[in-house]
Amino acid sequence: MDVQIHNYDVVIVGAGLAGLAAAKELTTAGKKTAVITKLHPLRSHSGAAQGGINAALGADDSTELHEFDTVKGSDYLADQDCVEFMCSRAPQTIRWAEKMGAVFSRDEKGDIAIRPFGGQSKPRACYAKDRTGLTLLQTVYEQAHRAGVEVFDEYYVADILYKDGKVSGVSGYNIKDSKPVIFNAKATMFATGGYGRAYKINSNAHANTGDALSIVARHGLPLEDMEFVQFHPSGLGGSGVLISEAARGEGGRLFNSEGERFMTKYAPNAMELASRDVVSRAITQEILEGRGVGENKDSVHIDLTHLDPNIIMTKLPELRELAITFLGQDMLKEPIEIAATAHYSMGGIPVDRDCHVKKSPTELVDGFYAAGECSCVSVHGANRLGANSVLEALLFGRHAGETIVKDLDDGKLSLRKATIADADKMLKEFKRVKTSNGKERVPALREELQNSMTENAGVFRVEETLLKQRDILNDILARFDNIRIDDKSNLFNTDLQEAIELGHMIEFSRFIVEGAIARKESRGAHYREDYPTRDDENFMQHTYLTLKEDNSIAIEYAPVVQGKFEPIERTY
Ligand code: FUM
Repeated sequence: MDVQIHNYDVVIVGAGLAGLAAAKELTTAGKKTAVITKLHPLRSHSGAAQGGINAALGADDSTELHEFDTVKGSDYLADQDCVEFMCSRAPQTIRWAEKMGAVFSRDEKGDIAIRPFGGQSKPRACYAKDRTGLTLLQTVYEQAHRAGVEVFDEYYVADILYKDGKVSGVSGYNIKDSKPVIFNAKATMFATGGYGRAYKINSNAHANTGDALSIVARHGLPLEDMEFVQFHPSGLGGSGVLISEAARGEGGRLFNSEGERFMTKYAPNAMELASRDVVSRAITQEILEGRGVGENKDSVHIDLTHLDPNIIMTKLPELRELAITFLGQDMLKEPIEIAATAHYSMGGIPVDRDCHVKKSPTELVDGFYAAGECSCVSVHGANRLGANSVLEALLFGRHAGETIVKDLDDGKLSLRKATIADADKMLKEFKRVKTSNGKERVPALREELQNSMTENAGVFRVEETLLKQRDILNDILARFDNIRIDDKSNLFNTDLQEAIELGHMIEFSRFIVEGAIARKESRGAHYREDYPTRDDENFMQHTYLTLKEDNSIAIEYAPVVQGKFEPIERTY
């Protein structure tokens, strides 16, 4: 088969904020850089980030307070050296974006406006109305483009070229015509975002199928802290479409079917602005105890009708539109229905502070980098604060670019040219899936996966349901070998792509469940009903999960980097 081969200094997979920020740094430094994306860059999920990006800009705020809130929010699982790095560089990251042309909302004095977000002791989220991610994405894309990045959009990356401890590029195919392609590169970076589509109710784009995680894991490289899945408190009832935390930041209040402002019971001080894990559990608890609202009693109300309508129209216009479009509910006039929605992955591909991918807790892979949601650096630990992910993506994406420039200039990276034989494994798998003629249908298997992950590995977890989910995933995995692809054509074959993506979702979901079974404590977003308290003595550790040749998943633990903030009980 004819395989197209490209050679670059750097290939970046993923064109969201992390990938494009790296690309901007690299191209500006004169490095020949390709960005590969299965979408168009401006359709990347970073563009769906609504509420804000954190930086301690307020007169009474400080980076140390930002660090403290982040570490406390992480339930003390974040690595404090990385948190310090992120929070101290946050203000300059905002200025960098602003200088590139990002138009932030302003306060009365003309300074960048900041709004309160959950789990933070000061208003700290800089924003552009409720379209912060889109504003930043457009800006960084424009500047990366201007600096000369080459974008391969609608290309599907199926594998890394990994041999002798070094990654030397990727293989994949052009979605337009299914033609295989190899990208050789001195440095390869993954910035592929999250995996929320593994859950039934989620806030994620259709593309968020977490492909990179199992691509990496299939090579025996570890994934870190996969059990920590964030459920955002406010997804629109029924669909999970994001209603930004900004709605609560601007004053939104939560009520159950009895008209009770129930957060008084769960977080009497911070109320609706407690940390996300706390608010999501509170909402889910109210629903499970029969105090839900809506046709199926599976939501609660968020009420903004007491606010000056001008606040909604100027600061939350998109949220209002979304609720009208999806639910027919106008937040100017009535409370709207929301419930917890799978939103973000705290875990992922382990990286050091400079975005080098790790082969083990103490060793690095040559030539391989990652940043943003697909990576675990770890600045979020067991629970991420709202508006810290846009920050992480932009800041660590840019920093990955800086690191790669340095590694290239230090002569640490060289080009290893792949032969067509190096794409053999990918091509065989591609052919196997495409010619499959079994009985199982991809949409049905995907639905089973999403429903069961939501039911058994969701907001609340317990040994019995996690073990059940392990069996369900093994069953789905076995049945995946017997799928049928109807579309045998080469032209925009979404049937084929969805099947490949489903394979990835099944595989990395096993890591979520194995990590959750092994972590016999409750910490941040991982809440075990059978182990309801945090156990620092045994589990103040990162989980490293590795796929073995017999297809089992091995677990080892690695220490958390401690710092100036001693672990204390977490209350809001
Ligand atoms: O609620 C939001 O606007 C989401 C922000 C985030 O996940 O950081």
